[in-house]
Amino acid sequence: MPKDSLTVTDNRTGQTYELPVENGTIKAMDLRQIKVSDDDFGMMSYDPAYKNTASTKSKVTFIDGDKGILKYRGYSIEDLAEKASFLEVAYLLIHGELPTATQLEDWRHNITYHTLVHENIRELIDAFRYDAHPMGTLVSTVGALSTFYPDAKAVNDPENRRLQMYRLIAKIPTLSAYAYRHRRGIPYVYPDNDLSYAGNFLNMMFKMTEPKYKPNPVLEKALDVLFILHADHEQNCSASTMRQVGSSHVDPYSALAAACAALYGPLHGGANEAVLRMLREIGSVKNIPAAIDKAKNGEFRLMGFGHRVYKNYDPRAKIIKGLAYEVFDEVGKNPLIDIAVELEEIALEDDYFVERKLYPNVDFYSGIIYQAMGIPMDMFPVLFAIGRTPGWLAQWEEMLTDPEQKIARPRQVYLGEMGREYVPIDQRK
Ligand code: CMC
Repeated sequence: MPKDSLTVTDNRTGQTYELPVENGTIKAMDLRQIKVSDDDFGMMSYDPAYKNTASTKSKVTFIDGDKGILKYRGYSIEDLAEKASFLEVAYLLIHGELPTATQLEDWRHNITYHTLVHENIRELIDAFRYDAHPMGTLVSTVGALSTFYPDAKAVNDPENRRLQMYRLIAKIPTLSAYAYRHRRGIPYVYPDNDLSYAGNFLNMMFKMTEPKYKPNPVLEKALDVLFILHADHEQNCSASTMRQVGSSHVDPYSALAAACAALYGPLHGGANEAVLRMLREIGSVKNIPAAIDKAKNGEFRLMGFGHRVYKNYDPRAKIIKGLAYEVFDEVGKNPLIDIAVELEEIALEDDYFVERKLYPNVDFYSGIIYQAMGIPMDMFPVLFAIGRTPGWLAQWEEMLTDPEQKIARPRQVYLGEMGREYVPIDQRK
C-alpha cells in the first residue's frame, strides 16, 4: 500500500523511523530524532552548496532543468518575453498576478517617479577611482542607499516594503548608468521620465549633447526583453543571498547589495563578461577545437556553458540567440557571434559536453548583444543586476511573509581540533 512517508533503518542501532514525505521532500529536522544514544545530537544531512536541499517553498519561479522549462508565476518565459514588458513582469513576480491596465499604470508611475537619486550618491560615485568596475560601484551605492532611507528598516510593514521596492527598481538603472559614466569621465545624465524603463536606461547611458535622447526602438525592445529574461531564476546564488541576508531583517538595500555582490562572481552573473573575454581570446573559428580540448582537459571552463539546474538547453539562451540577430540587423553584426555559434555546434556534438549535459546558458549570447549595442563588458553583470532586481525583491517578500522562515543559519560538520592548550608565542615551533 503506497504511503507518503519514508522508512529509514539506522543500521548502527537497528531502529526504524518513519519520516513524512511532503512535496517530494523529507524535513531535515525529522532526521534529528535519529540518534545512537540519548546524548547524541541527532542525524543531520550534509549538503555542501545546497545541491539537493530545498531551503524554501516558493510560488515565484519554476524551472524544470531536464526539460529546459522556465516559468514566472506559472507563465512561460517564451510567452512573457514575446508579449509582456519588463515592468509588467516585475509586477507579476512581486504580486503573483499580471497587472490590469490601471495597476500597471500606477506601478509604472510609482517606479518612474523614484528614478532620481540623492545628489550625495552622485558625489559618492565621484569618489571612486576613474577605472572602478561599475559592479563594485553598484554594490557600494545600493548599500549606501540604506543610509538615505532609514525608514526601510521597518521590514515587517508591507506598505513600507512596497515603497522600498519602487525605489530599488527605479534607482538601480540610475546608479548603474552613473557608474558607467563615471568610468568614462563624462557628465551624469538625469532620468527622463517621458521614456520607457529600458529607453530611459539607454538615455542615462548614452545621451551626449542632444537636448532630448531618442532611444533606438529595436535596442530599447531588445533590452527590455533581456531584462525580462534575467528577472528571476528561483533559488540561485544571489537570490539565496538576498533571502539569507534579508532573513536577519536588515533593510532591503543592504540585502540587495549583498545579492549584487553574489551576482558579481564569474560563476554567476559575471559569466557574460567572461564569455566575451573567452570568445575574444579564441579569436577565430579555426582556434575552437584547441579551446574545446583545453576545456575538456580541465585547463579552463567554457564560460556560458553548463548550469547547476539546466541539464538541457537554457530556454533563455534560445530566445537571446534569436534576439541577437534582430539587434545585428539594426547595428551591424558582432563578429564574435560566428565564433559563438560554431563553438556551440562543436561542443554540443562532443561526448564530454553531451555526457555532462553542458548546454549554453543565459550568459552565452547576452554579452554579444550588449557589445553590439555599444555597452562595454564590465557593464554586463550590471545589466544582469538591473533585470534581476524584481526577482530578488519577490524572493525577499516571499521569505519575509513565510511563517516557516527564520534567520538563516546552516549547520556544519566540525572536523577541527579539540582540547588544545594555548602555547605562548616564544614557545611555538
Ligand atoms: N566547461 C567545461 N567543463 C564544465 C563546465 C564548463 N563550462 N561546466 C561544468 N563542467 C564539467 C565539470 O568540470 C565537471 O566535470 P567532471 O564531472 O569531469 O569533474 C562537470 O562538468 C560538472 O560540473 P560541476 O562544476 O560539478 O557543475 P556545477 O553544477 O557545480 O556548476 C556552473 C555549474 C554553472 C558553475 C558550471 O557549469 C560553470 O562553471 N560554468 C561556466 C560558468 C558559467 O557559464 N556560469 C553562468 C551560469 S548561468 C547564469 C547564472 O545563473 O548565474
